Amino acid sequence: MAISVTLARTVPAGADVTALAVCSDQLDTEPGGLDWGLLRGLGFEGKAGQVQLVSGPEGRAVAVVGMGPAADLAPAVIRRCSAALARLVRRHRWLASSLLDAVAEDGDLAAAAQAHAEGILLGAYGYDAYKSDPEPNSLRKLSVVGSGREVRDALKLGTAVAGAVCFARDLVNEPGGSLTPEKLAAAARALASGDDGTDGAPLEIQVWEKEEIVEAGLGGLLGVNRGSTQAPRFVEITWRPPTGSEGFLALVGKGITFDSGGLSIKPATGMETMKIDMSGAAAVLGAMRVVKVLAPPIRVTGYIPITDNMLGGDASRPGDILTIRNGKTVEVLNTDAEGRLILADALSLASEAEPDAIVDLATLTGACMVALGTKVAGLMGNNQGWVDAVEAAADRAGERVWHLPLPADYRKQLDSPVADLKNIGNRWGGTLTAALFLQEFVAEGIPWAHLDIAGPAWTDSVDGEAAKGGTGFGVRLLVDLIRNFSPPGD
Ligand code: BES
Ligand code: MN
Ligand code: ZN
Repeated sequence: MAISVTLARTVPAGADVTALAVCSDQLDTEPGGLDWGLLRGLGFEGKAGQVQLVSGPEGRAVAVVGMGPAADLAPAVIRRCSAALARLVRRHRWLASSLLDAVAEDGDLAAAAQAHAEGILLGAYGYDAYKSDPEPNSLRKLSVVGSGREVRDALKLGTAVAGAVCFARDLVNEPGGSLTPEKLAAAARALASGDDGTDGAPLEIQVWEKEEIVEAGLGGLLGVNRGSTQAPRFVEITWRPPTGSEGFLALVGKGITFDSGGLSIKPATGMETMKIDMSGAAAVLGAMRVVKVLAPPIRVTGYIPITDNMLGGDASRPGDILTIRNGKTVEVLNTDAEGRLILADALSLASEAEPDAIVDLATLTGACMVALGTKVAGLMGNNQGWVDAVEAAADRAGERVWHLPLPADYRKQLDSPVADLKNIGNRWGGTLTAALFLQEFVAEGIPWAHLDIAGPAWTDSVDGEAAKGGTGFGVRLLVDLIRNFSPPGD
């Protein structure tokens, strides 16, 4: 259920619980008229994310929130602490928060307010669509104590962003047998029209069904789809500013609704979480959800190829050769390297529209998890300025990325004796060869960045603002990228 977020000058009388921020190096000031003997006895030290519910003045519930050292109070810390707070007070209905009091005079109050709203709403998230007896979450109202237009706007933005991240998480968490390509495309359509109740301006949308995909020559998408009983979809979803556009950004998201590996089948454990393989698509749709309310002065188009990767009787066989939208042929030696095949079509189409820049998001390689672990996305690209812009957006949004190289001499690993290229390289550096493959489908001269989100798209445990399951990774950085977009130079 949605949580309403408002700005309040003082703590509203009706609130059920009040949150109070305490930095670890300000403990000796003993703020808030609380029983500090008790709090210390409970081991409260003001560490970031340490939270404690106590009884305050007049018997009112007070949630004491440790924020760590005052000097380290970055938006990312506020987001994580706020999520811990939301979990702590989930039995209360109305939370009044004085957390922004901890922000220093010269601190970025707007960024703090946005992170606070995001943290509360993301911390309150849980996926319980299939639970007979879901854990109760009563939180419905957040009143943030503060003032000013900037703070109000930032709370609004944070609320919209968090709503979009939760939307993406829901899509990722929905099982692969339930979220079919048809259903994912329908979700995109409902988002575009506003039929799903989302705020803001409607978006233009085109949903291609199989016949149109055949007509458009999306050989990669069709090749991956061959083993499935579910028809593929291709979604193109666009925001166009009503007056004069200051740029054009293309977003591309991998939409594999389930990845069995195809005939190059995955081992059972490797398949357990493969409903997440449309996390790139979910991130793009999440970003478009915020675009509806942001109404940015640039055109933004999402290109989303959608299919599952199955092994039915007519599945693509290793050795089969596919012709991608841009005319290049690909020898499929491993049907589990399917993401790059559908992205090849999408990147070709995006290139045809001649955007100022492209960014794609894909749960593309297990190798990226070997390299960077489960919390950091790999970032690669063909234009240093554009890679820097994506990195800066990720930093501001509190999503971690790490720039990896695209070594030109590795490209020959993709040489095929029978086609223009093959879809796998050798054993090593699989993240880089996957990206080099994608690069073949980006038209010359278009700045392009690729985010391999195989690691951070999912978490096995509650972690900061993330709940177990799909994380919605990418939505926040895309929103920041859109808000700060300017066409990159060469
Ligand atoms: N969807 C997987 C990558 C993946 C693995 C995402 C683990 C999230 C968690 C992708 O389609 C895949 O199977 N990649 C192969 C590529 C290989 C065959 C070259 C891989 O990483 O093993
Ligand atoms: Mn695969
Ligand atoms: Zn995959």
